[in-house]
Amino acid sequence: MRLTRYFLPVLKETPAEAQIVSHRYMLRAGMIKQASAGIYSWLPLGYKVLKRIEQIVHEEQIRAGHIPLLMPTLQGADLWRESGRYDDYGEEMLRITDRGGRDLLYGPTNEEMITDIFRSYVSSYKALPLTLYHIQWKFRDEIRPRFGVMRGREFLMKDGYNFDLTKEDALHAYNRHLVSYLRTYERMGLQAIPMRADSGPIGGDDTHEFLVLAETGESEVFYDSAVTDLTFGDRDIDYDSVDQCAAIMEEFTTKYARTDETHDEALFNAIPEERRRVARGIEVGQIFYFGTKYSEPMGATVQGPDGKPVPVHMGSHGIGVSRLMGAIIEASHDDKGIIWPEGVTPFHCGIVNLKQGDGDADAACENLYAQLTAAGLEPLYDDREERAGGKFATMDLIGLPWRITVGPRGLKNGVVEVTSRRTGESEEMSPEAAIARIREIYGA
Ligand SMILES: Nc1ncnc2c1ncn2[C@@H]1O[C@H](COP(=O)(O)OP(=O)(O)O)[C@@H](O)[C@H]1O
Ligand SMILES: [Mg+2]
Repeated sequence: MRLTRYFLPVLKETPAEAQIVSHRYMLRAGMIKQASAGIYSWLPLGYKVLKRIEQIVHEEQIRAGHIPLLMPTLQGADLWRESGRYDDYGEEMLRITDRGGRDLLYGPTNEEMITDIFRSYVSSYKALPLTLYHIQWKFRDEIRPRFGVMRGREFLMKDGYNFDLTKEDALHAYNRHLVSYLRTYERMGLQAIPMRADSGPIGGDDTHEFLVLAETGESEVFYDSAVTDLTFGDRDIDYDSVDQCAAIMEEFTTKYARTDETHDEALFNAIPEERRRVARGIEVGQIFYFGTKYSEPMGATVQGPDGKPVPVHMGSHGIGVSRLMGAIIEASHDDKGIIWPEGVTPFHCGIVNLKQGDGDADAACENLYAQLTAAGLEPLYDDREERAGGKFATMDLIGLPWRITVGPRGLKNGVVEVTSRRTGESEEMSPEAAIARIREIYGA
C-alpha cells in the first residue's frame, strides 16, 4: 500500500473523550471512529489489525480440532425462553420486535442457538466429541460503555461450544481450550494469565478468565508472581492427548491467580510475601464448563453406548477479539504511539522516502516495495511530499514494527536504514540485505 492512496485519517490532537492510551492511539492512528456510544466503525487500519487477530484465533481453533461455522447476530426469543434466560439476562440484552410482532434479540452470546443446532442433527454419542465455534458480533447494552473497544456495546467475539458424552470428556475440552488460548495470546505477543473466576450469567462452576496485566484493566487480580514466569513457547501439542492437555492446565493454573470475585485471603497469604501481587488486568477470554445446564432444559440428548438417552455435557469458551486490539496496545506502546507485535501488525514494515521526487530515492523505494510485495509481505510506503519528521511521526504512531528509511545520502553509499520500532535501534545495510532481513523476521 502507498500512503498517498490509502485512507489513514491520522489525528494531530489527542481526543478529549479518550481516557486510556489504547483508545487515544486507536483514534489518533485513524483505526476506529465512534458511531454511537460503544459502537465503532473500523477504519482501514483498525480493520486490518482486527482481521489479523481474527486469523490467529481461527488458526489456533482449527489446530485444536474445533470447527468454524457462522450463526446470525439476531436471534428469536423463543430459544431463550426455553433455557429460561430470556427473563434472566436482564437489560444488557437488546430486545427487538419485528414488523410481525415477533420478539427478537441481538445475541449477547449463543449457547441457546448452538444447542438448538446440535439437537436438530445429532442423536448418537458417535458424533462426539464435537466443538463448534464462530467469530461474530455481539451486542450487550452495557450501562457504561467505555475505553473504546475495551468495553463496547457491539463487539466481536469468538465463542465456541463443546458437546461431550461425559463430564470427563467435557473437562478435556475445557483443558484443550485453555491450551489453545495460551497459544493464541502468545502469537499476538501477549501474556494472558488464566485466573480462577466467577461464571456470571453463563452459569457453571468451572471457569477461568485470561487476563493481560495492565494498570488500566477493569479487573482487580491477585496472583503469585511465579505465574508470570510461565510461557507456552513453541511446544508440540497433541490436542487429543488427555494427559498432555491436563498437564498444561495444571502447570498454568496451580499457582495462585484469581480475580477479585473468587479471591481468597487465606490462600493468598499462604504465598511467600515477596511473591504476592495485587494488580489490575484486562479480561481477554474466558472458558466455562457448565455440564447439562442448557442440554437438559433444551433436550439436547444423545443415545449413549447402552442405547439410553443422556443429556450432553457442554462448555462455552470466549475470546474478546475486538477487545484484544485495545489490550495489545495497552501492553505494547510508548509515548510516540503503538508498537505492534509482528504477529498482528497491519503492515509488515514501513518504507520512508526521505526525498520524494529524487530519482534515486524514488527508484530504490519502488524496488523495495516491489520485492517485499513479491515475497508475500505487505509494506506501507510513505510516498507523500512531506518532511522526514512528519513521516517518522506517522510511522511511530501507527506502530509498524520495522521501518526502512531511504534517502539520497545513504544511497550514495549503497545503504538504507532498517529501524526497529520497539528498540529504536537503526542499522545501515544494502537494500538487498534490508529485504532479506525483513523476510527473515517474518519467515517470508
Ligand atoms: N462489552 C465488551 N466489549 C468488548 N469485549 C467484551 C465485552 N464483553 C465481553 N467481552 C470479551 O468477550 C469475552 C467473552 O465474554 P464473556 O466472558 O461472556 O464476557 P463477560 O465476562 O464480560 O460476561 C470476554 O473475555 C471479553 O474479552
Ligand atoms: Mg468473561
